[in-house]
Parts: sequence; structure tokens; C-alpha cells
Amino acid sequence: MAQISLLGTGLIGSFYTQALQRGRSRDSVEVVYSRSQDRANDFATKWNVDVATTDMQVAIEADTDVVIVALPNDLHEQAVTAAAAAGKAVFCTKPLGRNAEEALRMLQAVESAGVAHGYLEDLVYTPKTLKALQSVRSGSIGDVLWVRSRETHPGPHSDWFWDKQRAGGGAILDMGCHCIEIARSFIGKDIRPVEVVCWGDTQVHPIETEDHAIGMVKYENGAIGQFEVSWSFRGGMDLRDEISGTGGTIWLNHWLRTGMEMFSADGMDGYVAEKAESDRGWLFPVGDEVAALGYTDMFADMLDSLDHRRPPVEDFYDGYIVNAIVDASYRSMQSKRWETIDLPIWRGREDVQRVGCHRDFDDQHVLIKEETMPDGKRKLILRNKSTGEVSQRVTG
Ligand SMILES: NC(=O)c1ccc[n+]([C@@H]2O[C@H](COP(=O)([O-])OP(=O)(O)OC[C@H]3O[C@@H](n4cnc5c(N)ncnc54)[C@H](O)[C@@H]3O)[C@@H](O)[C@H]2O)c1
Repeated sequence: MAQISLLGTGLIGSFYTQALQRGRSRDSVEVVYSRSQDRANDFATKWNVDVATTDMQVAIEADTDVVIVALPNDLHEQAVTAAAAAGKAVFCTKPLGRNAEEALRMLQAVESAGVAHGYLEDLVYTPKTLKALQSVRSGSIGDVLWVRSRETHPGPHSDWFWDKQRAGGGAILDMGCHCIEIARSFIGKDIRPVEVVCWGDTQVHPIETEDHAIGMVKYENGAIGQFEVSWSFRGGMDLRDEISGTGGTIWLNHWLRTGMEMFSADGMDGYVAEKAESDRGWLFPVGDEVAALGYTDMFADMLDSLDHRRPPVEDFYDGYIVNAIVDASYRSMQSKRWETIDLPIWRGREDVQRVGCHRDFDDQHVLIKEETMPDGKRKLILRNKSTGEVSQRVTG
């Protein structure tokens, strides 16, 4: 059972508290910090939290087991540093830092204080992602070649996201961090991400940061992670992933059109699902948002790990790697070239082999491709191993 100090009473603080306290959960938020006493009190009343404070230090030093940072990006480092100094376990929401420099300092702070740490990257814990990761790791789609991950919606819900200084970036940092970690999880977190090429632009909103971007992250084994992010997409929140391997494909759809579709001429009178744009007409509600977004399984892993003194699936090291990839994406957006990912600390494998494999057809040939044609005949495309000549054989 964990007792928690929660810093922040906004959207993510509410989602986290729902996940932590739902049903007959053993874990509970005991202390909540907000800038305003009224908001802290309202939150405490709604979620049955004992202590509501406007003093962050009081929340951090309270008699609880773990501090959860659910504050805007510019406050993550301050909160994490204070929690580490107080000797408290700390879980921090995404992105870990506004850039890799901040993230690295946070990693060093928790490691030198010797406190447990978790990176709250919920989207690698969605039920569909967990199932897909299990399938990929059991070899069901062969070597992963390409992971395409998309998060697009009409833009965030609070002022600070749109402020470059406070947020640290636009759609790439806000949502690309999810997509990057999803791709990294499928490709292998021990495979080094080496370089990035990225397009980004401010297409719609009057802001200094990008509201739309597409990037490709190249891994040392030749696999590609592709992220597609937008704050200009209309129609709700589109969360989709595609995993392509040498032996199969997986398509995941986490939010829109996931199985529940309804039409309401009169409207639902308010909230339908996160970032839904309308409450009437054709609607796509989500049965259990907290579980579908991964919060339930994420906290189960984080808190089980705390109980058993082992690292969770996602910790600050992962947050730092993601920030380093995001930094290189911003450099590429400016330079319009592939940019190297700087990783002063790398704990994964070195000298990995390229993904993909060739199948011998006979002593002289390797098989390029085989296909059954509309006339029922089987066509084999072959390459001669010594001459390189490409030929075809038709059978059947
Ligand atoms: N899926 C996810 O993992 C996910 C989703 C949304 C947000 N987030 C992350 O959670 C963090 C908070 O986002 P949110 O959506 O809850 O934002 P929000 O605007 O809804 O809430 C932010 C909270 O911080 C407080 N706050 C704002 N400025 C402050 C200041 N200067 N000092 C102290 N408190 C201040 C606000 O009052 C509010 O309680 C961000 O880092 C964001 O990236 C993660």
C-alpha cells in the first residue's frame, strides 16, 4: 500500500488520482499540492484527500511514500530535485524535462540520492500496447522494421502548453515524447537510437512552437520509429500505432472508433472523451478512459516495483533518452538534415546486428519474394548469389 503526495490538480492529476484510488485500490493520495488553496480544497474534497496545501515543500516532506509530479513542464526539475533531496521516491509525468539537459540532471539527482524513480509514460501501458508488446517479444511478427505512432488532436487545454518557455516545445515535445517511447519499446529499448530527421511547422496557431510535425528516428539495427504529431488535427484525439515486422504487422487504434460508436441528435450535454470536439452527432465514447490510456497498468507497475525494490518498466533513464531524441528532432527541424542523437549516458547494447534476414532458396539463389498470382500460379523472385542477377520462376 502506498501513500502518495500529489503535486498538481489539473487534468493529469485527476486522471492519476482516478487510476490510483478507483475501485478497492490499496493506494491513496494523502496530500495534494496546488497553487491555490481553493483548488487544492476542491480537489481534496472530490477525491477524499486528507491534506490540501499550497506549499510544495510541505507536500513533498509529508509522511508519504512517494511524490507524483503532475505539474507543467517548467516545474518538473524543481519538484524532482526537492523530492530527491527529501529522500522520497518520485514519479514524474511526461516529458521528463523540457530538454535532455534538464532530464539528465533529474536522472542524476534521483540516482545520487538513491531514491526510486518512475517515468509516467502511460501510452506504453495501454492494454492493446501491452498485448502487442508481448506478441512482438514472443517473435510473432519477426524483427521489427518500422513503427509508426500517431498522436494528433486539436491542441492542449491549458495556457502554459502554448508558451514556449514554460512548455519547452510544441507538439513534438508534448506528444512526440509518447510516440518516440512507443516506437522505442517495440524496436527494443536496448537498441541505440542514432539519428533523426524531422519536419515541423506552425501551420495554424499564433504561437512560437510547432503545431504539426513528422519525424523519423533511425535505430542502430536499421529499424525506423516514425512519429506523427499535431495540435491542428480536427475530429478529436487520434491515437494509433502500426508495427511492421519481417514476419507480420500489428495495427492499434486506442481512441477514436475503438468499438463504441453512437449517434446523438440531442447531444450528451458535455464531456464525451478526452479532446472530443463535439457532444452531438456521431460520437466515439471510450468505455474506460483511465484503463484505455494506460494509467491503470502504469501505476500497477510503478507501485509493484516500489514494493519489490526493482525498477519499473519506465524510469527516468527512459525519460532522458526520449528528451535526447526530441532535442535532435528540433535540431533537424531547423537544419532540414539528419541530426545525431547525443547520448552522454548510454546503457543499452553496442554493436547490434541489422534487422531483416535473407532466405536461401537453393545453393545459388536467395529468395527475394514469393506470391500467388490471380491465375493460381506461384511466382518466385530470386537473386543469384554470385552474379547478383534477378530472375523469376513460375510454378503450379
Ligand atoms: N498522457 C499523459 O501522460 C499526460 C497527459 C496530459 C498532461 N501530461 C503532463 O502533465 C503535466 C501537467 O499537465 P496537465 O494536463 O495536468 O496540465 P493542467 O494545466 O491541466 O494542470 C497543471 C496543474 O499545475 C498547476 N500549475 C500551473 N502553473 C503552476 C505554477 N507556476 N506553480 C504551481 N502549480 C502550477 C495548475 O494549477 C494545475 O493544477 C505536464 O507535464 C503534461 O505534459 C501528461
